[in-house]
Amino acid sequence: MKNIQQTSLITMTINKVDFQLQEEHNFDWLKQLGSVFCVFDQQDSGNISFGVEKDNQRYFVKYAGAKPIEFNGNPKEAIKRLKEAVPVYQMLEHPNLIRLLNHFPTENGYALFFQWAEGECLHSHWTFGGPAKYTNPKSPFYRFKKLELEKRLKALDAIFSFHTYIESKNYVAVDFYDGSILYDFNNDETTICDIDFYRKSPSINDIGENFWGANRSKSPEEYKIGSPIDSITNVFNFGAIAFGLLGGEMDRSFSMWAANQGLYQVALRAVEDERSKRYSTVNDFYDAWKSV
Ligand SMILES: Nc1ncnc2c1ncn2[C@@H]1O[C@H](COP(=O)(O)OP(=O)(O)OP(=O)(O)O)[C@@H](O)[C@H]1O
Ligand SMILES: [Mg+2]
Repeated sequence: MKNIQQTSLITMTINKVDFQLQEEHNFDWLKQLGSVFCVFDQQDSGNISFGVEKDNQRYFVKYAGAKPIEFNGNPKEAIKRLKEAVPVYQMLEHPNLIRLLNHFPTENGYALFFQWAEGECLHSHWTFGGPAKYTNPKSPFYRFKKLELEKRLKALDAIFSFHTYIESKNYVAVDFYDGSILYDFNNDETTICDIDFYRKSPSINDIGENFWGANRSKSPEEYKIGSPIDSITNVFNFGAIAFGLLGGEMDRSFSMWAANQGLYQVALRAVEDERSKRYSTVNDFYDAWKSV
């Protein structure tokens, strides 16, 4: 481990992996977990994450307490959020979700230790940002969109069945978007990551316009302070995700849609602006989807 002061950023190296931070931070605690083979240091969440390997097993370490380059907030807030995520992963354990193995405090932070999930993130803004996501043949999103319909429908099944499960546990997805989907192109398996902000349902929009989530999949209530955030909100989110993975994303015309008319109608009803016109639960939405 060595530190190089570079302009106002700090460059750190652990096991040949370089990353930058806004200020120095002690990562000695990381050594015992294994050898670092990759880093996710471009997140604005306040977390910095690592892929580590030990005894031929891979793990994912998500850490709050440092000051990542894209982070403008207070590390203490990031620590609080990450700690609060622990019971959420424990409560919602599921085969389609990344698996939390352990969690612990460090001198100046908090770490969550997960099993490594094979797969590529469908919104990898740090490698294929901006238009490259849609146009670069190497981008995971681009490659996913080129997959045969059956495989894409199977990925949606993994997403919908996980969320039907969490609904049955009285949770609501918050900040779910295509960046929360890991697709393994070798085994055609889908894993969901980053459920840190999922909440007990029903909840409310306590942030306003900048409520968590991506514009391409947020419902109208996710822009309006005081609005309900519940199953009906999630129905919209999953309809929008279906348009992202099978259609023209924000362009919801049938000509952009890869599946049949029946599924199109289900997705269209899910993304109605008016809440009363949508399916009232994720379970109903998924039933309608499956019955087509
Ligand atoms: N268990 C895992 N195994 C392998 N890779 C993972 C795992 N969990 C997450 N990742 C990858 O790490 C990236 C960052 O993780 P995550 O989204 O949880 O971080 P975050 O700090 O919440 O950032 P964001 O600002 O994107 O919400 C994910 O986009 C995904 O590509
Ligand atoms: Mg996150």
